Amino acid sequence: PPRRGRSLGLKLSPLTIYTTNMSKRTPLIAGNWKMNKTATDGIELVKAISAAVGIDPNVNIVLCPPFTALSAVGAAIEGSHLALGAQNLHDKTNGAFTGEISASMLRDLHVTHVIIGHSERRSIFGEDDAFVNRKVHAALGATLRPILCVGELLAEREANQTMEVVRRQVEKGLEGVPAAKADHVIIAYEPVWAIGTGKTATPAMAQEVHAFIRKLLTQQFGAESAARILILYGGSMKPDNADALLAEQDIDGGLIGGASLEAKSFVELVRSASKSVAG
Ligand code: 13P
Repeated sequence: PPRRGRSLGLKLSPLTIYTTNMSKRTPLIAGNWKMNKTATDGIELVKAISAAVGIDPNVNIVLCPPFTALSAVGAAIEGSHLALGAQNLHDKTNGAFTGEISASMLRDLHVTHVIIGHSERRSIFGEDDAFVNRKVHAALGATLRPILCVGELLAEREANQTMEVVRRQVEKGLEGVPAAKADHVIIAYEPVWAIGTGKTATPAMAQEVHAFIRKLLTQQFGAESAARILILYGGSMKPDNADALLAEQDIDGGLIGGASLEAKSFVELVRSASKSVAG
């Protein structure tokens, strides 16, 4: 079937996403709805977001509803500035994997992005780095853009293990990904202690880890590619702390949980990201 004309600026070719100015990455605000919203609720939410945002070339937006709302939300955002993401996938292409969803099933619904290795998947559902890595390859193989989530637990931060944990998750998560595919990769740094807790990393704390992640990406993909990769922050990002976080050099947007469930707060975050480019 012909591709539908959605997701302006979010086509999969890196050249259409990141234009000439390497140091200027177009920020991305991604909403992770987690296990919230029926398809009916989702349609209402995305219509409100789309109406408020219109077309804004300074920011890209991805909405990640539950699987059950992907089709309805996809139809509701057709022709808008919003793109569609999923919250998970399985690494196998098909077969006897009851309850699982493959990359090609997501592609068929015009999904362009997929969250992989979220801390809730790792801690509640026992996903390890090797599984996360296989999912990254499955996504890239289907030209889906993986949003690879990494981040330390509170105990790990307190034990000064943040960088070690993040290094392991980035290196293992991206193992075997060739430089030619680097432009499709997105990283989300989500300190686990900041997720859903109202506690957020200070901009300086987050920037320190983001800069470290970019160094790791440079080692794997080279400086030019690493400079184009988006590194999102996630963990209690809200309208009142977003400006300061997004002002940091290596914070290229947000992966938003709670504040993505209401149009007003989500749209404010989109505006912050847009302003961070314009200003
Ligand atoms: P909160 O914004 O609710 O802290 O969730 C962040 C998150 O886990 C996004 O993936």
